[in-house]
Amino acid sequence: MDHVKFTAMKDGDKEDYEFLTEHEIEYTKGTASRLLNALVSLDESLSGYQITRLGHSLQSATRAERDGADTDWIVAALLHDIGDIYAPYNHDEYAATILRPFVREQVTWVVEKHGDFQMVYYGHHVGGDPNKRDAYKDHPYFDDCATFCERWDQSSFDPAYDTLPLDHFRSRVEEVFARKPYDPAVIQPGVRVPLTS
Ligand SMILES: [Fe+2]
Ligand SMILES: [Fe+2]
Repeated sequence: MDHVKFTAMKDGDKEDYEFLTEHEIEYTKGTASRLLNALVSLDESLSGYQITRLGHSLQSATRAERDGADTDWIVAALLHDIGDIYAPYNHDEYAATILRPFVREQVTWVVEKHGDFQMVYYGHHVGGDPNKRDAYKDHPYFDDCATFCERWDQSSFDPAYDTLPLDHFRSRVEEVFARKPYDPAVIQPGVRVPLTS
């Protein structure tokens, strides 16, 4: 069997759906490498900065690693702007959606909100609200997102910085996306792990 028998989902039988489930399990094993390839495509995206979007992603992850952050943080730093490719108006939510089943809740939240928090650095130059992040001022992860942006995001546009290559991060990305999705031991609701050590 190399494909299902049905042409409309309601006509599928148990054999069809068992086949699809197996197929899906095999396909999901390739998530990490598909994401790494997508990051390389970021290199071709419009930038205007002194470094490419891939360069920015790698620099963010390099800074995270050098700050002593854990794997969840490092992979999040690497992928935080991956939404730029297909979702330029909500790239933060897009990246958070990719990460959500596989990293700590804290990390997903920070990635999801980083766009609003970044406004503090440039909102006043573009007619936006630099204090947009204040909407979350009582949130338990507020300080974590502020730190993420200050140390790893807004700072990572420096062509002179000694940035590590994509291959350096490959095994961490593979480890994260091989985790059991939505495993409570990974999601750890409410747990705060420091970004720096
Ligand atoms: Fe971003
Ligand atoms: Fe960024």
